[in-house]
Amino acid sequence: MIKKLTDGVYNVGAIDWDRTLFDEIVPTPQGTSYNAYIVQGNEKTALIDTVEPYKFEELKKNLEDLGIEKIDYVISNHAEQDHSGSIPMILDMYPEAKLITNEKCKNFEMDLLHIPEERFTIIEEGDTVDLGDKTLEFILTPWVHWPETMSTYLREDKILFSCDFFGSHVATSYTFAKYYDKVYHEAKRYYAEIMMPFRTFIEKNIKKIRQKEIKMIAPSHGPVFDDPEYIIKAYEEWIDPTPQNMVLIAFVSMHESTRKMVEHLADKLEVKGIDVKIRNLTTCDVGELAMDLVDVATIIMATPIVLAGAHPAAVYGAYLANALRPKAKFIGVIGSYGWGGRAADIIKSNLANLKAELLEPVFIKGLPKEEDCKKLDELAELIYQKHKSIGLIK
Ligand code: FEO
Repeated sequence: MIKKLTDGVYNVGAIDWDRTLFDEIVPTPQGTSYNAYIVQGNEKTALIDTVEPYKFEELKKNLEDLGIEKIDYVISNHAEQDHSGSIPMILDMYPEAKLITNEKCKNFEMDLLHIPEERFTIIEEGDTVDLGDKTLEFILTPWVHWPETMSTYLREDKILFSCDFFGSHVATSYTFAKYYDKVYHEAKRYYAEIMMPFRTFIEKNIKKIRQKEIKMIAPSHGPVFDDPEYIIKAYEEWIDPTPQNMVLIAFVSMHESTRKMVEHLADKLEVKGIDVKIRNLTTCDVGELAMDLVDVATIIMATPIVLAGAHPAAVYGAYLANALRPKAKFIGVIGSYGWGGRAADIIKSNLANLKAELLEPVFIKGLPKEEDCKKLDELAELIYQKHKSIGLIK
C-alpha cells in the first residue's frame, strides 16, 4: 500500500497487521508498520529507511508500483533492523544508490548487516543532500532509540522524518493520525516501552527539532502527524519530571493474603484522594504496566515470600521498572509470608536505578490481621504525606 504525504513524498513501507510482540518483549496488540519514505526531487530520488527483512517484498512491490526505477540515495536514520534490515536488498536492487548515514550508524550497520564500508557516505549534523527542488537536512537525535539515531528534515515541505521518535506500534490503512484517543494511547504505550529510559535525551532532542518549522512528523512506525504539535506536546507532558498524584501497585498473590493487603492499601489511598492503579504481574500486559509507570509518583511492589525470596513475577516486574527508569519518587514493598525470607531486599536491589526514596517495607505473617491493616494504614498516610511534600496534594 502506497501512502501519499504530499507531492513527491510517499510512504512505501510495510504494514504488519498481525505482529503481536516486538523485540520479544513488547506486546503490539494493534500490530505495527515499518514506514519507508520516497522523496522525489526534480533531479534525484531518496529512500528514507526500509522495512523488516521479512517484509522486503512489500517494500519492493510499492517501489515498483510507484515506478521508482532509480534511487540515488538511501538514507538510514537508525540501525535497528526493523528499519535497516532491508537496506542490503535495496542496495542490490539499486546498485548506483549511495547509503547515507552518520558514522555511528555506519559502524552498527557494518556489524549487523555486513554492508561493505564503500557503500556508505557519512554525514554530520546539519549536512544536506540536494535532490533538485527538494533538500534533505540531517539532524542528529541520539538515543531515540539507539545512540546513532538521527532524523531527516525535508526543508521545502517542512516534514521531519523522525524514525522511532514520535512513533507508535499501530497498523493502519490511513496515512495521517486520526481517532486521537487511540493515537494518544498507542503513542504513549510506545513512549513507555521504548523511549521512557531516555527522557533527558528526548528533552534535548525536542528542543533541537523545535528550532525547525515542522508541518508534518513522519515517524517510521504508525501514522504520520499532520498536526505535529499534538505529538510533541504529548511527549513534553510524558517527560515532565513531575509525576501525578497516583500510585501503581504491582502485585502477585499465591493464596490471597497479599491480594487482601493490596486491596486494603488501595482503599485507604483512594480515601485520601490518591489515584491507584493495580496490576496483577502474572496476567497484565507489560505495555499497560509501562504506561502506568509514565505517570505514577509511587510504586508499590507486592509479593508473597516464596522459597525464602520474592515471587519471580515480582522480581520480573521490578527488573522491568528498573530498566524503564520511570520518574516515580517513592517505592514501597509489601507482602505476606509463611515462615520468613528476604523478599524486600530482593525487590529493592532490582530497583536500584530508580532515583526514588524507599519507604519502610510492610511484611506480615499469613492473612492480614487488624494490627497488620494498621501498618498498611500507616503506609497509606506516609504516601499521602510524601505526595503532599512534593506538591501533588494541596
Ligand atoms: Fe523501530 Fe529502534 O527500531
